[in-house]
Amino acid sequence: MSIVFLNDSYMPMEEAKISPMDRGFLFGDGIYEVIPSYDGQLVGFAPHIERMKNGMQEIGIKFDWSVDKWREVTEGLIEKNGRGNLGIYLHVSRGTDSKRFHAYPEDVAPTIFAFAFEIAAAPVADKAQAKGYKVSTTRDLRWERCHIKSTSLLGNVMHFQQGFEQGANETLLFNANNELTEASACNAYIVKDGVVVTPPLDNQILPGITRFMLLDILAKDGTIKVEERAITMDEVFSADEVWVTSSSKEVAAVVEVDGKPVGDGQVGDVWQAAQKLYSAGKHNY
Ligand code: PDD
Repeated sequence: MSIVFLNDSYMPMEEAKISPMDRGFLFGDGIYEVIPSYDGQLVGFAPHIERMKNGMQEIGIKFDWSVDKWREVTEGLIEKNGRGNLGIYLHVSRGTDSKRFHAYPEDVAPTIFAFAFEIAAAPVADKAQAKGYKVSTTRDLRWERCHIKSTSLLGNVMHFQQGFEQGANETLLFNANNELTEASACNAYIVKDGVVVTPPLDNQILPGITRFMLLDILAKDGTIKVEERAITMDEVFSADEVWVTSSSKEVAAVVEVDGKPVGDGQVGDVWQAAQKLYSAGKHNY
């Protein structure tokens, strides 16, 4: 995993140098993506690039590589670092300024950085083999622009750390109305009486690509009902199943919330059916 891409070329990680005046470093002023790749096959590449373009547009970074150019750079990283189970990290910061001044500078070139890192193998849709996640809960104290995949991740990092310090794998977040938003680095779901429920897309959550693909796959299949609506804290604690999704985890079954078992404390049947459908359909995006 030692070859990275910086601005216009590949190089060993040790040779990649970015100015301390880069606004990504000073302000967290940038957009990023994490795209999974299994044995050289990217998952959800086009929607990931579309989300990155939307993010850049929203924060006024003018940078217009085509999807094909991003694909070329991404596939180059996969070839140079060896196929396997990889997360491809793509990052565009606003660029390096000569001074530290909050307003967007006019004429700086964005900084492009990309690298590959190892991720776990894709989950096998088998309850007996599945890893059951433990999560903790807390009030969502991030900003009101969580739909932007910004490199300013301190709010998420602090929430992840809260759970991590309690031995949890993730932290579920609840807004001021005690409604579930998402997790610190994943989207969140409950299952009740066979129905999958997840919060609707708005400024409180990231429009996850795994979420998009999972809901699309489930809708097309039609055997599992899905609702997008607000979820109360009580519903989380009385759910039959709780899931989190992200590019590096796919669909992950949560078996414990704040030390209390979810349902019977085992990975559930609806998870198994959903992950099976996801495994079969994920390469169609
Ligand atoms: N995290 N919500 C948040 C806050 C996230 O950071 C992520 C992804 C998701 C899931 O999005 P997707 O399905 O597109 O990966 C939801 C990435 C993987 C990360 O920051 O490492």
